Amino acid sequence: MTTVGIIGGSGLTNLKNLKITRREVVRTPYGEPSAPMVYGQLGGREVVFLPRHGPGHTIPPHEVNYRANIWALKETGVTRVIAVNAVGGISRDYLKPGTLVFPDQIIDYTYGRAHTFFGSELKQVTHIDFSYPYCEELRRMLVEAARQAKLEAAESGTYAATQGPRFESAAEIARIERDGGDVVGMTGMPEAGLAKELELCYASVAVVVNPAAGKVKKEVSLKEIEKNLETGMATVRVLLEQAIPMVVKSEG
Ligand code: HPA
Repeated sequence: MTTVGIIGGSGLTNLKNLKITRREVVRTPYGEPSAPMVYGQLGGREVVFLPRHGPGHTIPPHEVNYRANIWALKETGVTRVIAVNAVGGISRDYLKPGTLVFPDQIIDYTYGRAHTFFGSELKQVTHIDFSYPYCEELRRMLVEAARQAKLEAAESGTYAATQGPRFESAAEIARIERDGGDVVGMTGMPEAGLAKELELCYASVAVVVNPAAGKVKKEVSLKEIEKNLETGMATVRVLLEQAIPMVVKSEG
């Protein structure tokens, strides 16, 4: 049985080390997910892969159908989801491109996104606890896999989710830093909240691809980001190869 879902972000629209067995179009009450689900073997175990921005990287962060994606993954029967997110580094230790960060907290600065399954269609107002947004057990396994594979990684950090698609101003990053944000990306929310609503065990691998705005003297360079995405996602593939067997085994 497939137990692990992987949501690929920018730079990871396909998993080169995934031996694809089949694709499946999943329909949801919330519309279409970003792409058909891709089933295959990774690290010798079955996983299901979904590229968040679509197969051709055409869906911008604020237009991703996060509800359809999370619903569709739940439909496939996966219980654990590893999300890959490209980020800018804010706090000093996380500035180096290529560093992996396994966030343990979130601050949500996004707006206007369909962000809940628990709207007015429910008979009763429903809240969920979000004190600890990520699945600690899965997060720990990712940290351990990074250690085993000797990858440069930070064990925790606060992920700040911004609206995009533009990058932030230097003042916005200074504010996020004062708020306690360590890394900044555009896709971490509402994805993590939706996963929690559906009781999926969800954790993120954030890959630093640039110093956030104002953190170094020059402007954010898209060319540099592209280069760093390529090497960063190669690192993510190594991480996943190491992590997947551990995650599947822990499921029993
Ligand atoms: N800001 C927001 N999202 C990002 C960044 C950034 O600097 N880098 C990669 N995704």
